[in-house]
Amino acid sequence: MKIDRRRALALLGFGAATPLTARAQSPYGGPVAFEHGVASGDPLADAVILWTRITPKGDGEGQIAYAWRLNPVDRRAGGAKSGTGVTGPDRDYTVKVDVTGLDSARAYTFEFEANGVTSPMGRTRTLPVGETRELVLAVASCSLYPNGYFNAYQAIADLPQLDAVIHLGDYIYEYGGEGSYGMTSAVAGERAHLPNREIVSLADYRQRHAQYKSDPQLQAAHARAPWIVTWDDHETTNNSWMDGAENHQPEKEGDWATRKANALKAYFEWMPIRDPAAGAAMTAINRSFHFGDLLSLIMLETRIGGRDEQLDYAKNLPMVDGQVDVEAFRQLLNNPDRRMMGADQEAWLAGELAKSVQSGRTWQILGNAVVMARIMMPSARSIMGEEAFAAAVARLPAEVGGFIDRMERMSALNLPYGLDMWDGYPVARERLYDAIAEANARVVVVSGDSHAFWANELFDDENALRAVEFGTTGITSPGAGDYLTDVPVGELFAAASREVVFSEQAAKGFVLLTLTPEAVRGEMITVSSIVSKTYETAVRASFVVEAAEGGGVSGLKTLTGV
Ligand SMILES: [Fe+2]
Repeated sequence: MKIDRRRALALLGFGAATPLTARAQSPYGGPVAFEHGVASGDPLADAVILWTRITPKGDGEGQIAYAWRLNPVDRRAGGAKSGTGVTGPDRDYTVKVDVTGLDSARAYTFEFEANGVTSPMGRTRTLPVGETRELVLAVASCSLYPNGYFNAYQAIADLPQLDAVIHLGDYIYEYGGEGSYGMTSAVAGERAHLPNREIVSLADYRQRHAQYKSDPQLQAAHARAPWIVTWDDHETTNNSWMDGAENHQPEKEGDWATRKANALKAYFEWMPIRDPAAGAAMTAINRSFHFGDLLSLIMLETRIGGRDEQLDYAKNLPMVDGQVDVEAFRQLLNNPDRRMMGADQEAWLAGELAKSVQSGRTWQILGNAVVMARIMMPSARSIMGEEAFAAAVARLPAEVGGFIDRMERMSALNLPYGLDMWDGYPVARERLYDAIAEANARVVVVSGDSHAFWANELFDDENALRAVEFGTTGITSPGAGDYLTDVPVGELFAAASREVVFSEQAAKGFVLLTLTPEAVRGEMITVSSIVSKTYETAVRASFVVEAAEGGGVSGLKTLTGV
């Protein structure tokens, strides 16, 4: 389909409900390119978001008219859709179309056209309604561009069967160039971050999103299936919470609210997610997707909607005269007023769980950024033995050796490993478990953030099994096992933590979930390299959880790999 010039100009001049600035009104008719691929997301039974970005390649800027079309893959009659729209510099030339009136459980192809140029083609599909026997979902997180090739995204693109991709955040990272996170990678020279500094302004966040989406392997994964995303901290900045972040210094980076608004504007421009209602950007992540009678996927926002500031061992558990006051620290940790999500978010989640069960859906997946299980600080010394431990520490760089030393001391105090994870908000986690119990839901939690694989069983304070958890490792981001190459880090966590059935701390890849009415299988898929463009995939380990009769879940059964 071509857009005729008269139609395009009519759209530019008269299509907008609010007055446009003079600059925005003037059309751009020069050469364009689709340099960031196409994407789809937030599928419903009758609708899906289509996304692309049109890059003006000539002089000047202005509004660009585009056309989109979507065609069913099957040969049944009817169902094709098409339309037109306008984008421009006010939204960084990104395009988002919410196509409605689609058929359920149907596969489609889609593409865009602007100024005579056609985009690559994407594939997408709508959600099923009614009886659903099987679903295949890929779960991904943490793609640090400078640290390696996105081979794991390519592996997702190459999957033979895939209903949707769940992305749990750290889709971009905010860090800068030389000396920053990931810049010691063998391929960092050719993949240095743009701009070459920590991103703060709207222009910065836009440029960073554009760089990530220039990656052909990421484009392939977006073109393969609809994505359902949540953000974690690095879409804003490291260890963000409601009113600040570890990696935000107001004195030199300005007001946190402004930076957060910049990050979110770029996020909603560049990600294939349904746009938020006015004023609701912070919590627009909280939304559910119903896959027939088999699954409700409930996506959680746990960063900037209502999270209280993280505790910090250095700050909140100071050593005074060689002693620490662990009881005072535990009181802080167990303060019931400390929140991971706002009260309204918690109430919404409880309602979604209850509604899903009441409507007869078998499974409830929580799409959640940070690890939920109780993960205790492990003692490498006690597990490896004094001699092997000393030898391993001696081979480590001094700063990593110091980290191990701190771990040993914290392990002796029986404290959790990660205060930025749910372990830092134990009372909020217990409220979530209460909501699961109240709803009698069959919950599988999926988590990102940690750059490690986890298979966990989640127990409440009364020792009742409330859910299982599959944690996915990074696409490229470095894990503890990448630094502590001589230490069996995954085994240490499993040995120290009752809830951890399995952990692998160095591999890169994703989790593949296969759901049936009887069980959910979780496979930890690895790529053999992120610094070579040739790689192989393998199943590192796989587990199954069964639907318990009348509600709840079984424990994890190991299929392979442990
Ligand atoms: Fe991450």
